[in-house]
Amino acid sequence: MTRIRAAITGIQGWVPPYILTNKELEAMVDTSDEWIMSRTGIKERHILKGIGLGTSDMAAEAVKALLEKTGTSPDEIGMVICATVTPDMIFPATANIVCDKTGIKKAFGFDMNAACSGLLYALVTASKYVETGTVKKAIVIGADKMSSITDYTSRETCVLFGDAAGAILMEPTTEEVGIMDSIMHSDGSGRFYLHMKAGGSVRPPSYETIDAKEHFVFQEGQPVFKFAVTKMADVAAEIMARNNLKSEDISYLVPHQANLRIIDATARRMGVGTEQVMINIERYGNTTGGTIPLCLWEWENKLKKGDNIILAAFGGGFTWGSIWLKWAY
Ligand code: UT7
Repeated sequence: MTRIRAAITGIQGWVPPYILTNKELEAMVDTSDEWIMSRTGIKERHILKGIGLGTSDMAAEAVKALLEKTGTSPDEIGMVICATVTPDMIFPATANIVCDKTGIKKAFGFDMNAACSGLLYALVTASKYVETGTVKKAIVIGADKMSSITDYTSRETCVLFGDAAGAILMEPTTEEVGIMDSIMHSDGSGRFYLHMKAGGSVRPPSYETIDAKEHFVFQEGQPVFKFAVTKMADVAAEIMARNNLKSEDISYLVPHQANLRIIDATARRMGVGTEQVMINIERYGNTTGGTIPLCLWEWENKLKKGDNIILAAFGGGFTWGSIWLKWAY
């Protein structure tokens, strides 16, 4: 029997026009372009300005452009998953709102919260629906308005994050392309190092939580860094080893963009050179769900059918994982 795989058949990113530079941050908190560049590799990030605009607005822009460029009618889409930690609201799901804003009426949709690994979790989940023939065309979104949960008086976090959205079209194929393998992990004992303290059922919003700034990203940078460096590199190396992939077989590593030093460590572990790594952290910062689709979108014209691509991510939870895919067009 011919095996059906789930292939990426289109990719689109969207970033808001406003650019927040390191120079501007220097005027807001006690930081410097030199510190930010040397510790993270970030030069600037895009920020969504405008009252009443949220993650769904960025995602809808990416989805509309994706449908247009791939010649896909909204009615053909059977499933939409939105990977985000900054949903428009706790419920309903941002995926539902995006469907409404883009004319997708025949799909079921839901959000996936796996922090910075969310896009990988969503891709793997959607791929199972596509591989089994349950869904013919799925859209996977990675989108975050990180500025909505960033404390711009805290130099530890405000230099790191940006806003962006990316949308990926997935379809079945009988060719030897698409998602070939995946490894996903999570470890909830890591939750203490990277989380938002309030706003959930344990600490619902109150004057106290607002005064204590508990509705912003909290991160203990160093422990997260240590786990991220090890786990992201380990899982990328593991997926290569179990599929007998050598570094020369890999066209591109597409790492989650949280810190240039974590990206470099992962590439070193895989034995791939810098020219084989998609890196755009300098211009966008950490956009959580958005980082991997933004890379694929920017490199789309360089990719060739059959290229071996390794996606790798690490994020809050902790969550981490890796996908091996063969580019389909
Ligand atoms: O995407 C999800 C997963 N997240 C990650 O993977 C992030 C992992 N962590 C990191 O990328 C890094 O830990 C950070 C970039 C967040 C921080 O870099 P670091 O090299 O671990 O710095 P640090 O937190 O150890 O801080 C070193 C020093 C401290 O000063 P003292 O105590 O040595 O005097 C900080 O107060 O740098 C100070 N510092 C800053 N200085 C200037 C922290 N943030 C800043 C800043 N500007 N923005």
